[in-house]
Amino acid sequence: MTTSINDLIVAAPDTSCDVELAKGPWEFDTFPGYGPGASENDVIPEPVVRPGQLPAEYQRMTDDELHARIRAAKDKLGSRLVILGHFYQRDEVIQYADFVGDSFQLANAALTKPDSDTIVFCGVHFMAETADILARPEQHVILPNLAAGCSMADMADEDSVEACWEDLMAVYGEEPDADGKQPVIPVTYMNSSAALKAFCGRHGGIVCTSSNAATVLEWAFERGQRVLFFPDQHLGRNTAKAMGIPLEQMPMWSPRKELGGNTVEELNDAKVILWHGFCSVHKRFSVAQIEKARAEFPGVKVIVHPESPMPVVDAADAAGSTDAIRKYVIASEPGDVIAIGTEVNMVNRLAAEFPDRTIFCLDPVVCPCSTMYRIHPGYLAWTLDGLVAGELRNEIVVPDDIATDAKVALERMLAALPK
Ligand code: 13P
Ligand code: SF4
Repeated sequence: MTTSINDLIVAAPDTSCDVELAKGPWEFDTFPGYGPGASENDVIPEPVVRPGQLPAEYQRMTDDELHARIRAAKDKLGSRLVILGHFYQRDEVIQYADFVGDSFQLANAALTKPDSDTIVFCGVHFMAETADILARPEQHVILPNLAAGCSMADMADEDSVEACWEDLMAVYGEEPDADGKQPVIPVTYMNSSAALKAFCGRHGGIVCTSSNAATVLEWAFERGQRVLFFPDQHLGRNTAKAMGIPLEQMPMWSPRKELGGNTVEELNDAKVILWHGFCSVHKRFSVAQIEKARAEFPGVKVIVHPESPMPVVDAADAAGSTDAIRKYVIASEPGDVIAIGTEVNMVNRLAAEFPDRTIFCLDPVVCPCSTMYRIHPGYLAWTLDGLVAGELRNEIVVPDDIATDAKVALERMLAALPK
């Protein structure tokens, strides 16, 4: 039997970036509340099964029993069910996905499964919300564990973004310039709540993913003098820098500071205002790790996700979305050595798929997306059994008023194809 990340983390907790992950699946998953990354306006389904409250029957099942349950439920549900999985999802779960992809592809996949009446999303909360917004009205979307959120998405809440917007309107005014360009266009990264996507829809803005961020920024600059980019400062900075925008024209907006910590002059000169958000997995990558990889493996190719800090992206050979990273590996030659700066489940899966290349994660510490990791096979078995019994467990429902505005911003995004 191969060793899974799960085994590694539990066996040697000090090799993981998150000590919580060293606990058993039902232990680390016990903090209360509707999961991180959830829209604050989300309707909490009833009966609410919070993390850690998975029925004891499922907690006691062996892995073999859980997998038998999942397979049996999948067989019974047939084409009524579609399971979507993000590249970062753990192997024990991803094996059941009908479609695996990056955030942009998964948003499209949610649209292209007209036969199914239920989408089970093995990703994180904002991805499931997006699927619910884009799906047909009679389709249901399930997130097997409601605590599978995104810590970056939590770094921009609707109230703070509204407050920022008011400040910016006070500085810039609300009127377009002589060329008809708006003072500022809001751009939210896909990793944000539905409420923020709706905010962008209402204010002439748009959503982007890491695969189409450059196309989206071009779209925004055709319509506005500047951009407010949230929540990921790194994706915003890396993308804008590649378009030739100087760093001095990319001030940071820190939500707790007056004017975000900027002067009126700095804001007037700004081209891209970057929200103070980041991904805790990707901020671990460093230039020192790249230097070490180059010293140990002369000729190594380094590719990183653009959520990594700018010096890391600059020192790498390439940067791109999870799908771009996958395509980079597919295009490589047998014998190549490739160091990857992204989540470790995805890197290990690529290494297993291409055994004739040497593929490794830049960060020597096992660092999974700890929220996506919460989708344990136990939750998948329990939600699928629910569907077989005619019960929707952990359904994600975005209220209609939010969904309507968010869809405007998402449809603009879907038209902005990756380059
Ligand atoms: P992708 O859009 O590249 O799939 O990335 C999503 C994500 O959450 C990366 O941390
Ligand atoms: Fe969010 Fe980071 Fe996980 Fe991506 S890897 S879903 S940005 S916490």
